[in-house]
Amino acid sequence: MWNFPLFPEQASTTARQVDLIFLVELGVVVFFSVLICALIVFFAIRYRRGAKVNRDNPPIHSTAVEIIWVGIPLVITLGIFVVGTAIFFDIYAPPGDASRIYVVGKQWMWKLKHPEGKREINELHVPVGRPVELWMTSEDVIHSFYVPAFRIKQDVLPGRYTSIWFKPTKPGKYHLFCAEYCGTNHSRMGGWIYVMDPAEYEKWLTDGTQTDGTMAMQGKDLFVKHHCAGCHGVESTVKAPKLEGVYGSRVPITEGNEIQPHFVVADDRYIRSSILLPKSQVVAGYAPVMPSYQGQIGEDDLLTIIEYIKSLGSKGTRETRR
Ligand code: CUA
Repeated sequence: MWNFPLFPEQASTTARQVDLIFLVELGVVVFFSVLICALIVFFAIRYRRGAKVNRDNPPIHSTAVEIIWVGIPLVITLGIFVVGTAIFFDIYAPPGDASRIYVVGKQWMWKLKHPEGKREINELHVPVGRPVELWMTSEDVIHSFYVPAFRIKQDVLPGRYTSIWFKPTKPGKYHLFCAEYCGTNHSRMGGWIYVMDPAEYEKWLTDGTQTDGTMAMQGKDLFVKHHCAGCHGVESTVKAPKLEGVYGSRVPITEGNEIQPHFVVADDRYIRSSILLPKSQVVAGYAPVMPSYQGQIGEDDLLTIIEYIKSLGSKGTRETRR
């Protein structure tokens, strides 16, 4: 059978929106291309050399025509701009009930982690109909997380968190690609997204092959292993900021020779940089004595530790972040 799909499958809510605006733009382009070509051909034939047509007093100015050819494109392009912007905002603002999946790109694989503790490589299992936020970073160079069937693509950068979300609408198996040239095996850096029935997904999530608990529990082990608990633990006598309830709260910072502290939100980015560059933004009233963990904790362990700190209580930044 003739099988030549012009579009990847449409398997997320975003896919519908992106295709809608793409087809509208394509329609506008086709309409005006055909209209202009037809008029060129029509006038070329009608006014060809030797044709007996009236060539007296050709009009050289028409205000009405000018208003039309400025006005119509203006309305069309502004319309596309407004709809495109609305879709853009929607693609980058995950809904409040989205569940997070942590993604670390690495030459040349995708490492994915569920908050429930489950780890995957080059595969991601998600339930159908539930929004999923991907919270991503890279261990080395720039990668790009690309799922054509969901119409999502987002760069994954070293030293920074980026995110994107999707809501799968159809169970199935969809291709995952890296869409940013990242070295020799870039073309092989891909995998599959498995969109499952919710019940099947719950079964998969708790199939018991993994024994080290949720991500927060794994984070607690890392917290002890890296001796964080010695100073930040509940029973610690060292003067270090306590971490209970810190996630999402506003912490006072004094930088340089500032007298009045300013406030920063203790989100994922702040906590990550506090672990790697602890002297850069010290909480007011504390000495800059924490050692740096740069080069000692990998990106996936950092995400796991942050998930633990989040589990100690949060002020719900995920809602206010929007
Ligand atoms: Cu990773 Cu290309």
